[in-house]
Amino acid sequence: MVTQQATSAVVSEHELSEMRSLLEQRSGILFDVSRERFFSIRVREHMSEKKMAHGSELLRVIRGSNVEYDRFLERLLTQETSFNRYPAIFRALENKVLPEMHVKKFWENPRALRIWSAGCASGEEPYTIAITVADTIESSEAWNIEILATDISKQALEFAERGVYPRRELETLKPHHLTSYFTQEGPNFKVRPKIRKMVSFAPLNLAQAVYMGKFDCIFCMNVLIYFSDERRAALIQRFYDYLEPGGYLFLGHAESVAKAGVNFQPIVVGDSLIYQKPDNAATKKSTAAGQEKS
Ligand SMILES: C[S@@+](CC[C@H](N)C(=O)[O-])C[C@H]1O[C@@H](n2cnc3c(N)ncnc32)[C@H](O)[C@@H]1O
Repeated sequence: MVTQQATSAVVSEHELSEMRSLLEQRSGILFDVSRERFFSIRVREHMSEKKMAHGSELLRVIRGSNVEYDRFLERLLTQETSFNRYPAIFRALENKVLPEMHVKKFWENPRALRIWSAGCASGEEPYTIAITVADTIESSEAWNIEILATDISKQALEFAERGVYPRRELETLKPHHLTSYFTQEGPNFKVRPKIRKMVSFAPLNLAQAVYMGKFDCIFCMNVLIYFSDERRAALIQRFYDYLEPGGYLFLGHAESVAKAGVNFQPIVVGDSLIYQKPDNAATKKSTAAGQEKS
């Protein structure tokens, strides 16, 4: 079937399906039936902007050029986010996870804490993590705190790097956060250096396995919902491998590790559910390896 909508772009079902396969293969993002309409509208918008009349032309261009593929992908990403998006999750970080890490690492030299915000969009999530750390960990300047924030979208990362947000975006934070952690710049508010320097941004496609060292916490909220069951399970396994024993995984409300078959321990903290890698995971592994050898 060939469809022609608001714009004069002509795209066949076959071409749309080829575009979906390419996107799934390269980014892991699945445009299933539930997002059919969204997908088809965005494809046509893109073609109209590029002055392309036929789907075959768009296919040829995105297959042949990484720059064009990236531009196409940017149009299809969902980047909805906000500061303190799930207050219960950040309460769990503040009241359970960080105090636990504080005790565990207090005598380490250097005292280091590594947190990954995977799929950070325009930066609200990693900055909320940094604000929570600054609020909770006494003399956080004396710690080596690294919050690595990654996303596939270069546009979102550019915005996040600037760290400038309109006032209405900050309404979900506590009132003292605004004065302690932002400076006013005209109608907008800029993240203060104390918070900014904890966060580093980098482009990263979660569909490709890249090892970046171990983390104490991984936030991957509202990203797995866009992946197939298979990709989701593989990514959850990678998160498990990348976490320190006793480390925590934070997912979005509609996401869970349930079907992934990975040994995470679900923990309810107030109104939130978080996942812990067992503290004895490393010991268990090395004991098992020792037994295999003998
Ligand atoms: C809905 S936003 C979630 C933002 C934030 N984590 C939150 O919960 O508020 C999803 C983010 O995942 C990113 N994303 C989608 N597929 C990705 C991939 N394969 N690799 C890295 N990031 C991806 C999108 O660009 C987008 O910024």
